[in-house]
Amino acid sequence: MKPAIQIHEIGNYMLRSYLLETPQGWIAVDSGYVGGFAAYRKRLGRLTTPNNVKYVFLTHAHNDHTGFLGELAHESGARLVLNEQSLPRLASGENAMPQGTGFTTRMGVMLSSMMKHSSFPPVRPDETAILLKSEADQPFLAAGLPIRVVFLPGHTADSVGLFLEETRELLCGDATGNAIIAPTRQAVLMEDVPEFARSWDKIIALNPSRIYPSHGNPFAPEDLAKYRKRLDKITLFYPKKG
Ligand SMILES: [Fe+2]
Repeated sequence: MKPAIQIHEIGNYMLRSYLLETPQGWIAVDSGYVGGFAAYRKRLGRLTTPNNVKYVFLTHAHNDHTGFLGELAHESGARLVLNEQSLPRLASGENAMPQGTGFTTRMGVMLSSMMKHSSFPPVRPDETAILLKSEADQPFLAAGLPIRVVFLPGHTADSVGLFLEETRELLCGDATGNAIIAPTRQAVLMEDVPEFARSWDKIIALNPSRIYPSHGNPFAPEDLAKYRKRLDKITLFYPKKG
């Protein structure tokens, strides 16, 4: 039998745009870079109409995920579902880089210095938004959908993912990565390494059937067990000041 929730993907290898088709409408996971809404809407239109998107779930407030979040929520009329900790980040319109944030590869530092900006149009969620304070808040389960919100901090403090209970598939935002820049499945940027490692332990314990990162290809969970030990001795690289 076909599972109740279907995963669709309308982005690309470097930045995935997942959409969940559910019996209660569609859930968009994140948006994309600023200026990307017209192309996104076109690709979305091949699957459904914007007003069928009932929720937009934000995995974390980085500019590659939030660039057209406001436009997507406005045009679809969807309710935003987000970590409460994303609010100040969204309002600032700038990627937060709390003390201690660093990159797991020198390449990451290089790429970050090449990026022109890390800003996005500030987003102030309206009164329909669903704010997640902890994993006690499970709006999809409460609505009868077999989708569990999982808190996965480390890449950022506000990182959250979605676990599809029926198929045991995990959409994890940037709590893991599998693009060419992250060969050992870790994120390129981390705010808190021990917390990131604990989130991996949590994912491993969750025993997902497949992991869908926001960057790169979906992969088997065994990869995390294989690379987990590296996180205990990871050294971050920091961009030069000035
Ligand atoms: Fe990110």
